[in-house]
Amino acid sequence: MTQNEMTSDDSTDPAAVGTTATPDPSGEPLVDQSIEVDGTDGGAQPGRDTVIEARDLNVFYGDVQALQGITMSIPENQVTAMIGPSGCGKSTFLRSINRMNDLIDAARVEGELYFEGKNIYDDDVDPVALRRRIGMVFQHPNPFPKSIYDNVAYGLRIQDETENLDQKVETALKRAALWDEVEDQLDKSALDLSGGQQQRLCIARAIAVDPDVILMDEPASALDPIATSKIEDLIEELAEEFTVVIVTHNMQQAARISDKTAVFLTGGELVEFGDTQSIFENPEHQRVEDYITGKFG
Ligand SMILES: Nc1ncnc2c1ncn2[C@@H]1O[C@H](COP(=O)(O)OP(=O)(O)O)[C@@H](O)[C@H]1O
Ligand SMILES: [Mg+2]
Repeated sequence: MTQNEMTSDDSTDPAAVGTTATPDPSGEPLVDQSIEVDGTDGGAQPGRDTVIEARDLNVFYGDVQALQGITMSIPENQVTAMIGPSGCGKSTFLRSINRMNDLIDAARVEGELYFEGKNIYDDDVDPVALRRRIGMVFQHPNPFPKSIYDNVAYGLRIQDETENLDQKVETALKRAALWDEVEDQLDKSALDLSGGQQQRLCIARAIAVDPDVILMDEPASALDPIATSKIEDLIEELAEEFTVVIVTHNMQQAARISDKTAVFLTGGELVEFGDTQSIFENPEHQRVEDYITGKFG
Protein backbone atom coordinates (compact mmCIF):
# COMPACT_ATOMS: atom_id res chain seq x y z
CA MET A 1 0.00 0.00 0.00
CA THR A 2 1.39 3.38 -0.92
CA GLN A 3 1.58 6.33 1.38
CA ASN A 4 -1.05 7.95 -0.74
CA GLU A 5 -3.48 5.10 -0.28
CA MET A 6 -3.00 5.29 3.45
CA THR A 7 -3.84 8.96 3.56
CA SER A 8 -7.39 9.65 4.50
CA ASP A 9 -9.01 11.61 1.71
CA ASP A 10 -12.60 12.48 2.50
CA SER A 11 -13.42 13.23 -1.10
CA THR A 12 -12.91 9.60 -2.02
CA ASP A 13 -13.92 7.94 1.23
CA PRO A 14 -17.29 6.39 0.46
CA ALA A 15 -18.09 6.27 4.15
CA ALA A 16 -17.66 10.02 4.29
CA VAL A 17 -20.44 10.51 1.81
CA GLY A 18 -22.70 8.24 3.80
CA THR A 19 -22.65 5.25 1.55
CA THR A 20 -21.26 1.78 1.39
CA ALA A 21 -17.72 1.65 2.61
CA THR A 22 -15.74 0.05 -0.14
CA PRO A 23 -13.08 -2.39 0.86
CA ASP A 24 -9.51 -2.77 -0.24
CA PRO A 25 -8.40 -5.78 -2.22
CA SER A 26 -5.95 -8.39 -1.10
CA GLY A 27 -5.86 -7.89 2.62
CA GLU A 28 -3.64 -4.84 2.69
CA PRO A 29 -2.35 -3.73 6.08
CA LEU A 30 -4.21 -1.08 8.02
CA VAL A 31 -1.00 0.64 8.97
CA ASP A 32 2.18 1.44 7.09
CA GLN A 33 4.22 -1.30 8.72
CA SER A 34 3.10 -4.86 8.46
CA ILE A 35 1.44 -5.93 11.66
CA GLU A 36 3.24 -8.47 13.75
CA VAL A 37 0.68 -10.71 15.29
CA ASP A 38 2.56 -12.58 17.96
CA GLY A 39 -0.30 -13.86 20.02
CA THR A 40 0.61 -11.54 22.87
CA ASP A 41 -0.88 -8.43 21.36
CA GLY A 42 -3.13 -7.49 24.25
CA GLY A 43 -3.76 -11.17 24.74
CA ALA A 44 -5.61 -11.40 21.45
CA GLN A 45 -5.51 -14.82 19.94
CA PRO A 46 -7.18 -14.30 16.63
CA GLY A 47 -6.47 -17.84 15.54
CA ARG A 48 -7.83 -19.09 12.28
CA ASP A 49 -11.44 -18.85 13.25
CA THR A 50 -11.87 -15.52 14.96
CA VAL A 51 -11.79 -12.51 12.69
CA ILE A 52 -13.26 -9.87 14.99
CA GLU A 53 -12.97 -9.79 18.74
CA ALA A 54 -14.47 -7.14 21.02
CA ARG A 55 -13.08 -6.84 24.53
CA ASP A 56 -14.92 -4.85 27.11
CA LEU A 57 -16.14 -2.45 24.48
CA ASN A 58 -18.11 0.55 25.75
CA VAL A 59 -19.66 3.15 23.48
CA PHE A 60 -21.11 6.44 24.64
CA TYR A 61 -23.04 9.22 22.92
CA GLY A 62 -22.24 12.16 25.13
CA ASP A 63 -23.30 11.02 28.61
CA VAL A 64 -25.48 8.17 27.38
CA GLN A 65 -23.87 4.76 27.36
CA ALA A 66 -25.11 2.76 24.36
CA LEU A 67 -22.98 -0.37 24.79
CA GLN A 68 -21.89 -1.90 28.09
CA GLY A 69 -18.70 -3.92 28.18
CA ILE A 70 -19.24 -6.00 25.07
CA THR A 71 -16.92 -8.99 24.79
CA MET A 72 -17.41 -11.38 21.91
CA SER A 73 -15.53 -13.20 19.16
CA ILE A 74 -16.93 -13.29 15.66
CA PRO A 75 -15.93 -16.32 13.59
CA GLU A 76 -14.62 -16.24 10.07
CA ASN A 77 -16.80 -17.28 7.12
CA GLN A 78 -19.96 -17.52 9.11
CA VAL A 79 -23.07 -15.42 9.45
CA THR A 80 -23.29 -13.78 12.85
CA ALA A 81 -26.64 -12.16 13.62
CA MET A 82 -27.24 -9.49 16.20
CA ILE A 83 -30.76 -9.27 17.50
CA GLY A 84 -32.51 -7.34 20.23
CA PRO A 85 -35.13 -4.66 20.77
CA SER A 86 -34.88 -1.25 19.20
CA GLY A 87 -32.33 1.00 20.85
CA CYS A 88 -30.30 -1.80 22.45
CA GLY A 89 -27.14 -0.84 20.56
CA LYS A 90 -27.06 -3.21 17.59
CA SER A 91 -26.26 -0.54 15.01
CA THR A 92 -23.81 1.07 17.39
CA PHE A 93 -21.94 -2.21 17.75
CA LEU A 94 -21.94 -2.82 14.00
CA ARG A 95 -20.55 0.66 13.36
CA SER A 96 -17.86 0.17 15.97
CA ILE A 97 -16.49 -2.74 13.92
CA ASN A 98 -15.37 -0.51 11.05
CA ARG A 99 -15.11 2.75 12.97
CA MET A 100 -18.14 4.30 11.36
CA ASN A 101 -18.92 5.77 14.80
CA ASP A 102 -15.91 8.02 14.17
CA LEU A 103 -18.22 9.96 11.87
CA ILE A 104 -20.65 10.70 14.73
CA ASP A 105 -19.33 13.62 16.75
CA ALA A 106 -20.93 12.61 20.04
CA ALA A 107 -19.74 9.01 19.89
CA ARG A 108 -16.89 7.85 22.09
CA VAL A 109 -15.48 4.33 22.17
CA GLU A 110 -13.63 2.69 25.07
CA GLY A 111 -12.16 -0.79 25.15
CA GLU A 112 -10.69 -2.87 22.40
CA LEU A 113 -11.82 -4.26 19.12
CA TYR A 114 -9.48 -6.57 17.28
CA PHE A 115 -9.66 -7.23 13.57
CA GLU A 116 -7.34 -10.06 12.62
CA GLY A 117 -5.44 -9.51 15.83
CA LYS A 118 -4.97 -5.75 15.48
CA ASN A 119 -6.82 -3.33 17.75
CA ILE A 120 -8.57 -1.08 15.25
CA TYR A 121 -8.70 1.72 17.82
CA ASP A 122 -4.92 1.95 17.95
CA ASP A 123 -3.61 5.34 16.86
CA ASP A 124 -1.85 3.95 13.81
CA VAL A 125 -4.94 2.44 12.18
CA ASP A 126 -6.36 4.34 9.23
CA PRO A 127 -10.15 4.06 9.34
CA VAL A 128 -10.45 4.51 5.59
CA ALA A 129 -8.16 1.56 4.93
CA LEU A 130 -10.05 -0.40 7.58
CA ARG A 131 -13.39 0.26 5.90
CA ARG A 132 -12.02 -1.09 2.65
CA ARG A 133 -11.53 -4.44 4.36
CA ILE A 134 -14.73 -4.26 6.36
CA GLY A 135 -17.49 -3.10 4.03
CA MET A 136 -20.97 -2.08 5.04
CA VAL A 137 -24.48 -2.34 3.63
CA PHE A 138 -27.29 -0.27 5.11
CA GLN A 139 -31.00 -0.66 5.69
CA HIS A 140 -32.05 1.54 2.80
CA PRO A 141 -30.36 0.74 -0.49
CA ASN A 142 -28.19 3.70 -1.38
CA PRO A 143 -26.80 3.28 -4.89
CA PHE A 144 -25.08 6.29 -6.40
CA PRO A 145 -27.00 8.18 -9.08
CA LYS A 146 -24.78 6.52 -11.67
CA SER A 147 -25.05 3.55 -13.96
CA ILE A 148 -25.19 0.01 -12.62
CA TYR A 149 -21.69 -0.54 -13.98
CA ASP A 150 -20.25 2.60 -12.42
CA ASN A 151 -21.70 1.72 -9.04
CA VAL A 152 -19.90 -1.60 -8.96
CA ALA A 153 -16.71 -0.17 -10.48
CA TYR A 154 -16.65 2.73 -8.00
CA GLY A 155 -14.35 1.31 -5.35
CA LEU A 156 -12.12 -0.40 -7.90
CA ARG A 157 -11.56 2.89 -9.70
CA ILE A 158 -10.76 4.73 -6.48
CA GLN A 159 -8.13 2.13 -5.79
CA ASP A 160 -6.82 2.11 -9.35
CA GLU A 161 -7.80 -1.51 -9.72
CA THR A 162 -9.11 -0.98 -13.23
CA GLU A 163 -7.33 -3.83 -14.96
CA ASN A 164 -9.95 -6.28 -16.25
CA LEU A 165 -12.60 -3.95 -14.88
CA ASP A 166 -15.41 -5.48 -16.95
CA GLN A 167 -14.58 -8.90 -15.61
CA LYS A 168 -14.45 -7.67 -12.02
CA VAL A 169 -17.78 -5.91 -12.35
CA GLU A 170 -19.34 -9.03 -13.83
CA THR A 171 -17.95 -11.23 -11.08
CA ALA A 172 -19.24 -8.93 -8.35
CA LEU A 173 -22.69 -8.80 -9.92
CA LYS A 174 -22.72 -12.58 -10.19
CA ARG A 175 -21.66 -13.01 -6.57
CA ALA A 176 -24.47 -10.65 -5.60
CA ALA A 177 -26.99 -12.71 -7.60
CA LEU A 178 -27.85 -9.74 -9.80
CA TRP A 179 -26.00 -10.40 -13.06
CA ASP A 180 -28.76 -12.32 -14.80
CA GLU A 181 -31.17 -9.46 -14.25
CA VAL A 182 -28.92 -6.62 -15.39
CA GLU A 183 -26.35 -7.98 -17.83
CA ASP A 184 -28.02 -6.25 -20.79
CA GLN A 185 -28.49 -2.93 -19.06
CA LEU A 186 -25.27 -2.12 -17.29
CA ASP A 187 -25.44 1.49 -18.53
CA LYS A 188 -28.86 2.03 -17.06
CA SER A 189 -29.17 4.20 -13.97
CA ALA A 190 -29.00 2.22 -10.75
CA LEU A 191 -31.87 4.32 -9.47
CA ASP A 192 -34.21 2.65 -11.99
CA LEU A 193 -33.76 -0.74 -10.36
CA SER A 194 -36.27 -2.12 -7.87
CA GLY A 195 -35.51 -1.82 -4.16
CA GLY A 196 -34.38 -5.42 -3.90
CA GLN A 197 -32.16 -5.08 -6.96
CA GLN A 198 -30.70 -1.86 -5.58
CA GLN A 199 -29.82 -3.62 -2.36
CA ARG A 200 -28.12 -6.46 -4.24
CA LEU A 201 -26.28 -3.80 -6.25
CA CYS A 202 -25.07 -2.24 -3.01
CA ILE A 203 -23.86 -5.67 -1.96
CA ALA A 204 -22.09 -6.04 -5.33
CA ARG A 205 -20.47 -2.66 -4.79
CA ALA A 206 -19.33 -3.68 -1.33
CA ILE A 207 -17.84 -7.01 -2.43
CA ALA A 208 -16.34 -5.82 -5.75
CA VAL A 209 -12.95 -5.21 -4.18
CA ASP A 210 -12.93 -8.29 -2.02
CA PRO A 211 -13.35 -7.25 1.59
CA ASP A 212 -12.84 -9.69 4.44
CA VAL A 213 -15.98 -8.75 6.32
CA ILE A 214 -19.37 -7.42 5.28
CA LEU A 215 -21.47 -5.63 7.88
CA MET A 216 -25.19 -5.40 7.16
CA ASP A 217 -27.59 -3.27 9.17
CA GLU A 218 -31.12 -4.61 8.64
CA PRO A 219 -30.42 -5.04 4.92
CA ALA A 220 -33.84 -6.47 4.10
CA SER A 221 -36.15 -4.59 6.41
CA ALA A 222 -37.18 -2.10 3.72
CA LEU A 223 -37.88 -4.85 1.17
CA ASP A 224 -40.90 -6.95 0.26
CA PRO A 225 -40.96 -10.68 1.15
CA ILE A 226 -39.70 -11.93 -2.23
CA ALA A 227 -36.82 -9.45 -2.33
CA THR A 228 -36.10 -10.31 1.31
CA SER A 229 -35.88 -13.98 0.56
CA LYS A 230 -33.39 -13.32 -2.28
CA ILE A 231 -31.23 -11.28 0.08
CA GLU A 232 -31.41 -14.03 2.69
CA ASP A 233 -30.29 -16.67 0.18
CA LEU A 234 -27.51 -14.39 -0.95
CA ILE A 235 -26.26 -13.80 2.60
CA GLU A 236 -25.88 -17.51 3.18
CA GLU A 237 -23.87 -17.81 -0.04
CA LEU A 238 -21.70 -14.82 0.79
CA ALA A 239 -20.59 -16.48 4.01
CA GLU A 240 -18.70 -19.03 1.95
CA GLU A 241 -16.27 -16.29 0.99
CA PHE A 242 -16.76 -13.53 3.52
CA THR A 243 -17.46 -13.07 7.18
CA VAL A 244 -20.94 -11.63 7.47
CA VAL A 245 -22.23 -9.71 10.48
CA ILE A 246 -25.89 -8.81 10.20
CA VAL A 247 -28.19 -6.78 12.40
CA THR A 248 -31.82 -7.77 12.15
CA HIS A 249 -34.89 -7.12 14.23
CA ASN A 250 -36.49 -10.10 12.54
CA MET A 251 -35.88 -13.13 14.73
CA GLN A 252 -37.10 -15.61 12.14
CA GLN A 253 -34.57 -14.17 9.74
CA ALA A 254 -31.76 -14.57 12.27
CA ALA A 255 -32.86 -18.14 12.93
CA ARG A 256 -32.98 -18.91 9.20
CA ILE A 257 -29.70 -17.49 8.00
CA SER A 258 -27.23 -17.17 10.84
CA ASP A 259 -24.72 -19.56 12.35
CA LYS A 260 -24.20 -17.50 15.50
CA THR A 261 -26.60 -15.20 17.25
CA ALA A 262 -25.85 -12.40 19.70
CA VAL A 263 -28.75 -11.16 21.79
CA PHE A 264 -28.49 -7.57 22.96
CA LEU A 265 -31.02 -6.27 25.43
CA THR A 266 -32.02 -2.85 26.62
CA GLY A 267 -29.21 -0.84 28.06
CA GLY A 268 -26.67 -2.02 25.51
CA GLU A 269 -25.82 -5.28 27.17
CA LEU A 270 -24.84 -8.43 25.31
CA VAL A 271 -26.82 -11.01 27.24
CA GLU A 272 -26.15 -14.16 25.29
CA PHE A 273 -24.04 -15.20 22.33
CA GLY A 274 -23.75 -18.63 20.84
CA ASP A 275 -24.81 -21.05 18.15
CA THR A 276 -28.03 -19.85 16.61
CA GLN A 277 -29.78 -23.14 17.19
CA SER A 278 -29.05 -23.19 20.91
CA ILE A 279 -29.96 -19.54 21.33
CA PHE A 280 -33.37 -20.16 19.81
CA GLU A 281 -34.06 -23.62 21.17
CA ASN A 282 -32.40 -23.57 24.51
CA PRO A 283 -31.30 -20.13 25.67
CA GLU A 284 -29.44 -19.95 28.96
CA HIS A 285 -30.98 -16.72 30.17
CA GLN A 286 -34.60 -16.23 31.08
CA ARG A 287 -34.50 -12.71 29.64
CA VAL A 288 -33.37 -14.08 26.28
CA GLU A 289 -36.08 -16.72 26.32
CA ASP A 290 -38.67 -14.05 27.13
CA TYR A 291 -37.41 -11.94 24.26
CA ILE A 292 -37.32 -14.63 21.63
CA THR A 293 -40.67 -16.03 22.63
CA GLY A 294 -42.13 -12.56 22.22
CA LYS A 295 -42.86 -11.75 25.85
CA PHE A 296 -41.35 -8.31 25.29
CA GLY A 297 -39.51 -6.25 22.73
N1 LIG B 1 -26.01 9.34 16.58
C1 LIG B 1 -26.48 9.16 17.82
N2 LIG B 1 -26.45 10.18 18.72
C2 LIG B 1 -26.92 10.00 19.96
N3 LIG B 1 -27.42 8.85 20.42
C3 LIG B 1 -27.48 7.82 19.60
C4 LIG B 1 -27.01 7.91 18.24
N4 LIG B 1 -27.19 6.71 17.65
C5 LIG B 1 -27.75 5.91 18.57
N5 LIG B 1 -27.93 6.57 19.74
C6 LIG B 1 -28.51 6.00 20.97
O1 LIG B 1 -27.77 4.84 21.33
C7 LIG B 1 -28.63 3.78 21.73
C8 LIG B 1 -28.43 2.58 20.81
O2 LIG B 1 -28.87 2.92 19.50
P1 LIG B 1 -28.69 1.97 18.25
O3 LIG B 1 -27.30 1.46 18.22
O4 LIG B 1 -29.16 2.72 17.06
O5 LIG B 1 -29.68 0.77 18.61
P2 LIG B 1 -30.38 -0.33 17.67
O6 LIG B 1 -29.65 -0.38 16.37
O7 LIG B 1 -30.30 -1.58 18.47
O8 LIG B 1 -31.81 0.10 17.51
C9 LIG B 1 -30.04 4.36 21.70
O9 LIG B 1 -30.34 4.83 22.99
C10 LIG B 1 -29.93 5.51 20.73
O10 LIG B 1 -30.85 6.51 21.04
MG1 LIG C 1 -30.30 -0.04 14.42
